[in-house]
Amino acid sequence: MSKLLICLLIFSVMFAVPGDVVEADEPEVELTVAGGAVGAELEATERAAEMFMEENPEVEVTVYDTPDSTDERRSLYLQYFEAESPEVDVYQVDVMWPGDMADHLLDLYEYGAEDYVDEHIQGIVDNNTTADGELVAMPWFVDAGIMYYREDLLEEYDLDVPETWGELEEKARIIQEGEREENPDFHGYVWQGDAYEGLTCNVLEWFASNDGGTFVSHDEEVTVLNENNEYMLDKAAGWVGDISPSGITGYMEEDARATFQNGNAAFMRNWPYAYPMLEDSEAFGPEDFGVTEIPAGPEGESAATLGGWQIAASEHSDHPEYAAELALFLASEEVQKERALIAGDPPTVKSLYEDEEILEAYPYWEDFYEVFVNAVPRPSTVTAPDYHAVSEAIYSEAHSVLTGDQDALTALEYMEIEIMDITGFPPGDPN
Ligand code: GLC
Repeated sequence: MSKLLICLLIFSVMFAVPGDVVEADEPEVELTVAGGAVGAELEATERAAEMFMEENPEVEVTVYDTPDSTDERRSLYLQYFEAESPEVDVYQVDVMWPGDMADHLLDLYEYGAEDYVDEHIQGIVDNNTTADGELVAMPWFVDAGIMYYREDLLEEYDLDVPETWGELEEKARIIQEGEREENPDFHGYVWQGDAYEGLTCNVLEWFASNDGGTFVSHDEEVTVLNENNEYMLDKAAGWVGDISPSGITGYMEEDARATFQNGNAAFMRNWPYAYPMLEDSEAFGPEDFGVTEIPAGPEGESAATLGGWQIAASEHSDHPEYAAELALFLASEEVQKERALIAGDPPTVKSLYEDEEILEAYPYWEDFYEVFVNAVPRPSTVTAPDYHAVSEAIYSEAHSVLTGDQDALTALEYMEIEIMDITGFPPGDPN
């Protein structure tokens, strides 16, 4: 072959071929998805976007990764909504938001959602349906607070899995004392103590598991100020700098996961997404950790906060048909299964809880289906459209107790008054 021919060939491989391919497949429609990047979820959303593009070659989907803190993500979305921006076509929406954001989201029933809704957990479909019957988001994945523990360490110290907060405290302390001899960075218990929505989720579990109510009852009463809640808030404040790091007051989900995954904690309160990440821990083996329910308080029973994310299409999209189709695709059984396997996010499609591959990856889901379905919702519907302000009152006051700036009783008095002020609801008994 002549040198010229070789040069031509190299040249055509380097430049001509890719150029031609791009031109031939140039997308007609560009869509963007605003998604999360906690754990492996960005990877899962990107995989789903690829699956959509394989089926729809005329569409190019870009996934934006948004802040881990749900409060910051909300602020970002509100900016887009206020500007009626077409920049984002599809939004990943937290379980408390569909009602408040409804004006900016398409009614997916107008795009064929009725063919799919029955596959999903009914309570979440209801959560995403407005009073006028519009379905403003498809259920995408469900979350519930769960307790991770180091099985190997419980065995080593001859301890059972704790069922109450008191037992957790005691066992965390025993393991911490033992482990610190070798590892000064070891902590008994990690959770989410920063002043943000994640702390509200932890506080709800403390209160509800001790029969102290869920901040605001269905009968529109504020149920914050009672002895059961004071007991729990006091107890949690006692963990800071004892069985939990002093820095726990700045911890979000990923901080807790990193500490636990690095082999520096015995117990962790987190969401299911951490499970597949922990299986890859370099500090312990996949058989060395387990999952149990959130502990019960002395007066109550285990309570898991309901979390989870929905997928919605923007009213301000330049391509509403495509945006809605993408949202429906992302929520489909096929994508939810893939997402579960990659990111550990529990599906909202019920049949997947009987799927062999899924149960092999997450054997605990067989028992935890009931926990997911019966998890305790935050009072977002009853306080709409003011839930965010209510939650801010909860996490700010609780945080001040954790940092030692206020005692539990004073903080609860403020929390109660602030929520009464925001909602206009009277105080009441949790039962
Ligand atoms: C998880 C939950 C979400 C909650 C958030 C708090 O992402 O799914 O509902 O608001 O954690 O940090």
